[in-house]
Amino acid sequence: MRIGVLTAGGDAPGLNAAIRAICQMSFRHGDRVIGISNGWEGLAKEFAGRELTSADIAGIVGLGGTILGTARYDLDNPPGGREKVIASIESHLDAVVAIGGDGTQRISHWLADRDVPVVGVPKTLDNDLLGTDYCIGFDTAVSIVTESLDRLYTTAASHHRVMVVETMGRSTGWVAAMGGLAGGADLVVIPEFPFTMDEIISHLVERRAAGYGFSIVVIAEGVNLETLGGHETSEISGDGIRGTRLATRGVGQFLAKRIDEHGGFEVRTTVLGHLQRGGSPTAYDRIWATRVGVAAYEAVAAGDFGTIPVVRGGEIELAPLSSVSHGQRHVPRELYELCQAFF
Ligand code: F6P
Repeated sequence: MRIGVLTAGGDAPGLNAAIRAICQMSFRHGDRVIGISNGWEGLAKEFAGRELTSADIAGIVGLGGTILGTARYDLDNPPGGREKVIASIESHLDAVVAIGGDGTQRISHWLADRDVPVVGVPKTLDNDLLGTDYCIGFDTAVSIVTESLDRLYTTAASHHRVMVVETMGRSTGWVAAMGGLAGGADLVVIPEFPFTMDEIISHLVERRAAGYGFSIVVIAEGVNLETLGGHETSEISGDGIRGTRLATRGVGQFLAKRIDEHGGFEVRTTVLGHLQRGGSPTAYDRIWATRVGVAAYEAVAAGDFGTIPVVRGGEIELAPLSSVSHGQRHVPRELYELCQAFF
């Protein structure tokens, strides 16, 4: 069998561990793997696939990024991309494994509905794919946020400052909330449970009155500026496929300025940005990326198309693509309240 593998959307640490797992299982069972360059683009434009060998996957389990390359490619602009993808698959492949987040899995689902033999693999640093407890890249991002907060804490304490730390998190606050919890943030602001500016200032003033000489505020990039007393600007661009450049809104900078103006604090801002997506995956990401990669191969080999291996309660399950492809998994209130319990 010729199994096409692609990585689409933003990269995430752990992608190569999943690619390696799919390749190793395929080679062991006498199947061939065709690595598709740059996600769906490699099927919608000129067919950009090449056969992967053992040499391609040697030593990549701990390598960040994706050896296949990735892209945020809009299959509907120019129109006809989806049909070209189908034609490419029919001409060159017997099955496709698409590693990606909700945008990618919406395409996978659409293809599966047209009887294209596709299996998904859950990946998004934001950790908000529906129906799975695990997405490739999230654990590494949380570790990076945690380490950053550990480092920012010492300089914040020395200078008696408020540090505002902006994390990734387009629609949900998983990275901010879990990174903030692990790194001992004093306030976490996420899209699901936004604070008003008054609430944020009151909290910081209370901390100062209680004798804390510094505070660390973590904010997810996707928090609505309007809830902080600002307004969205024309700098926001994107169509949900190419991706809104949320970091360009500067929600962290905006919050810092307001804390300075309204609370009389000395404030500094750190935007963690793509540092959260770069470098080596954690052991956890390597292990689970390997497990979902193996499960994806097994689904292909069994002819279980239109599915995606997900993690639920510490076990791998094979779920229909329809169950993950529309909507986001939000941080539940209980978990958010756990973060707040330590503020
Ligand atoms: O979707 C994952 C994500 O990491 C978001 O958190 C972030 O807004 C976006 O990707 C950044 O994308 P890009 O790499 O295109 O700037």
